[in-house]
Amino acid sequence: MPGNKLAENVFYVGAKHWDRKFFDELIPLPDGTTYNSYVVKGSAKTALIDTVDPAVREQLFDNLKKTGVTKLDYIVVNHAEQDHSGSLPFVIRAFPGVKVVTNEKCAAMLKEFMLAEDGCLQIIKDGDTLELGGKTLEFCLTPWVHWPETMCTFLREDAVLFSCDFFGSHVAAADLFAAGHFYKQAKRYYAEIMSPFRNNVRTNLAKLEKFRISAIAPSHGYIHLKPAAILEAYKEWSSEEVKNEAVVAYISMHESTKKMAEYLREALIDRGIDVHFFNLQGADIGEIAIQLVDAATFVIGAPTVLAGLHPVAMNAVYIANALRPKTKFVSLISSFSWGDKATDAVKAALTNFKAELLAPVVAKGYPKEIDLKGLDRLADDVAQRHRAAGILK
Ligand code: FEO
Repeated sequence: MPGNKLAENVFYVGAKHWDRKFFDELIPLPDGTTYNSYVVKGSAKTALIDTVDPAVREQLFDNLKKTGVTKLDYIVVNHAEQDHSGSLPFVIRAFPGVKVVTNEKCAAMLKEFMLAEDGCLQIIKDGDTLELGGKTLEFCLTPWVHWPETMCTFLREDAVLFSCDFFGSHVAAADLFAAGHFYKQAKRYYAEIMSPFRNNVRTNLAKLEKFRISAIAPSHGYIHLKPAAILEAYKEWSSEEVKNEAVVAYISMHESTKKMAEYLREALIDRGIDVHFFNLQGADIGEIAIQLVDAATFVIGAPTVLAGLHPVAMNAVYIANALRPKTKFVSLISSFSWGDKATDAVKAALTNFKAELLAPVVAKGYPKEIDLKGLDRLADDVAQRHRAAGILK
């Protein structure tokens, strides 16, 4: 990063994990990630806001040294997840007497994770403040974005909101202040991490309105020096509004489901619907998650295999279900050789979708004229629902 100064006596001291490939061994990280930590120096006390993933903790210590930090009085922990709290034991050891400042739920987690003990913990409540001398930290509990203990810390004098995961993005970049390009990575992050907690996102956005925010400094990726753009994006993504879009994601063994998926794609396009089309074999699940943020319709294409839904499709359905998207309509297109088991498997798996199930199209073997008519009927059903919802003219 060309410079690490966020405001007067406020500095970035985080770590960049350029080549990390997955988060939770699940979420692809095509652009790597960062764990953003910040130092706030008051005239009397110095605070570190969050630590970093222990795998790259040396960067944190190097940056503290470069920033001239020889004494730390407080470590504010906004979130207990180990990518931000995992280096706590090392920082506590390096700065004897430092207090770990966090809320009660987070403190309990830190103890369970064996990252902090009672003696160093200082518990705060919603709205409490911490004076550093000309710098005042105000704590704002923001539960379930995305864990129960998550909170934000607002630096009053400089109007900087340290939001931890909230408003974050998985991207390692030379200049994290260059947030003009934040949109796609922030949307991917929202889709993968925040989407299951859409209602809580809305509640916490409303809670943050009491602050006059001039910058948002999350704990992953870009720092938002013009926060209106990311706040507006979050409002849009977390709303219940959907777009005239369909996600068609398929896997095929012998070209039958592929033929059906391609036919449906064209039929939907012909009817004026914007289609996001994915072959699930080797697909980046994050790209699908991004499209599920807005799409009104989700169609899964998968054959029956081993007396159930194809496992690659089942994995996608499982993850999509866990993301709880606001999708309004779902359906299945499928092919089987001697027994259809995919339909029941999809119905049983999509428990979190508050969506209408449009009649599936299931072909025995390769799709024939009657199956293609079925796909036209499904495309008509989707178009009719989109029209009724006012998103297709
Ligand atoms: Fe970036 Fe929920 O940790």
